Amino acid sequence: MKKLFYESYSFLKDVIMFPSNYHKVPASTIFNKLPYQNLRILIDIYLTKKFQKKIINGLSSEKKLLFENARDEGIILNLNFFSNDEIEKLKIICNSLVDDYKHHNLTIDNGGLGKDSESSSKYYYLPNYKNKLTDKVSELYDFLYSNKDLILQLKFLSGLDLKKDKISIHISKVKGKLLSDEWHSDCFSHTAKSFLYLHNVEKNNSPFCFLKKSHANKNLKILNEKENSSNILNANKDKSKSGNQIWNKLEESNFKKEIFERSEPIECSYPKGTLITCDTSGFHKKGYSDGTEERFMIGFVSNRGTMFEKFKSAFF
Ligand SMILES: [Fe+2]
Repeated sequence: MKKLFYESYSFLKDVIMFPSNYHKVPASTIFNKLPYQNLRILIDIYLTKKFQKKIINGLSSEKKLLFENARDEGIILNLNFFSNDEIEKLKIICNSLVDDYKHHNLTIDNGGLGKDSESSSKYYYLPNYKNKLTDKVSELYDFLYSNKDLILQLKFLSGLDLKKDKISIHISKVKGKLLSDEWHSDCFSHTAKSFLYLHNVEKNNSPFCFLKKSHANKNLKILNEKENSSNILNANKDKSKSGNQIWNKLEESNFKKEIFERSEPIECSYPKGTLITCDTSGFHKKGYSDGTEERFMIGFVSNRGTMFEKFKSAFF
């Protein structure tokens, strides 16, 4: 009886949530058997490519090359996105926001660090751009968006014509010994994140790591997502986990070897002022930290949107 209830509930949820990119995997047994996820992947690839083509057509020939490369590799590396002087100014603004985060309506969490950890990890999320903002928060928003390429790169890799209120920004400060994350993909659909380094990030200070091209292999993505979806279905029979608790980990995949062979790892140890934008449907992880230096940066997360929003972005 309980089983039947779960199946009916999951079936309905899958039907309603089909267009949403926040619904990571089908929850019902029936849609795990049908090509539910395959169809969503194919629609997402089609719409994202259409939108990317539209953006590329409007670019200068020099920029065209950069974005064509980004489309193929899934990552854009911008050294000196902000100058040293600008980074120093940004650090002052960020520190004053963090010092008085309640006054500026920033919300805080520990970035998923375990309670017993001896390391310190703080993520401060800015209030949404549409909210009433304090002058300091507005100053930070204006500073970050003064370079139009930031939003353009996020739009391009996510396949969505994002407005500023559809991008979540956080300031993160992490210090202490940390193991490397596991290689994982955030979502079956193309989606984007950016990281702006406010300190130099060395090899031993949790550099962002990415498997270039792992976002773009259609056949492998379909096989891997199908496998991931059935793993989650089996491990999550009581439906207690959803959304961000569900990860597609490369270690658990039978296609691990092929995915590694057809991609190229990059470890982003770069100086302050570097901006990295990437498609986190590709496999990525946070590197190991030996705890000597604090990692101080600003992160940008695009809204994942729905198929309808991607359709609108691609065709209108
Ligand atoms: Fe991730």
